[in-house]
Amino acid sequence: MYNIFEAPFVREMCDITSNMYRMGWDERNGGNISYRLKAEEVEAYLDTKRVLRTLPLDFDASFIRGEYFIVTGTGRYFKNIEKCPQNNMGIIRIGENGRSYDILWGFEDGGRPTSELPTHLMNHIARMKVDPENRVVMHCHPANVLAMTFVHDLDDKAFTKTLWQMCTECIIVFPEGVSVLPWMVCGNTEIGVATAEKIRDTRVVVWAQHGIFGTGKDIDETFGLIETVEKAAEIYIKIMGVPLKQTITDAQLAVLAKEFGVTPREGYLEN
Ligand code: 13P
Ligand code: ZN
Repeated sequence: MYNIFEAPFVREMCDITSNMYRMGWDERNGGNISYRLKAEEVEAYLDTKRVLRTLPLDFDASFIRGEYFIVTGTGRYFKNIEKCPQNNMGIIRIGENGRSYDILWGFEDGGRPTSELPTHLMNHIARMKVDPENRVVMHCHPANVLAMTFVHDLDDKAFTKTLWQMCTECIIVFPEGVSVLPWMVCGNTEIGVATAEKIRDTRVVVWAQHGIFGTGKDIDETFGLIETVEKAAEIYIKIMGVPLKQTITDAQLAVLAKEFGVTPREGYLEN
């Protein structure tokens, strides 16, 4: 059995959480990540028959029964994960009945997975139905996206179009747009259901006055997606309230999409 501290997925989680902390997206315990692992990857580092604890799930996760995830801990600071991964995150496996999960590694000082686990798992289920290669769900609190939710219309189309207009790359990186949820209580299955409903159509869901959920097939892609949305929001916050002299027009966005072979969300660009 190899040393789990050298496992690529543990290293990746350490690197990305440190990076996200340095981006300023994850103050205190803000943010959480879940990363779906292949059974063979986990088996190379762990005896998967050795269950440390079993905890309940209050929704039906049978679609992902037997799936393994490495997930950050509730109340844990991203800045501390690299120093002590075994306390601040853990590896879980969804139970065969879809109503519980086993902890196989980590959370060594008595911790448990993020309070947003219901939203993470529901998002995995929703995205896997669209793209079986989806492996990552990432949540964080980037300042400019949050700021934008105070001053911008929260309509999905209006929010998306503003972001697309802020940087040329946006429509290429997220041609399907982003979705926005109004303010809700976090950490429960209700916000999980509402988020999963929207994440079917867009890999990004913004939670007004709270943060962002991004999904993707790997850590880099998901991080890059959030980074691009946050950069666009930053430009919006810098220019809002200032009379614009020019912008990227719908006609230009359409040319861009065609040139880069992406299909913009239907009905979002005016002809
Ligand atoms: P956790 O500490 O439970 O992961 O919660 C942080 C957070 O961002 C809640 O939305
Ligand atoms: Zn949060």
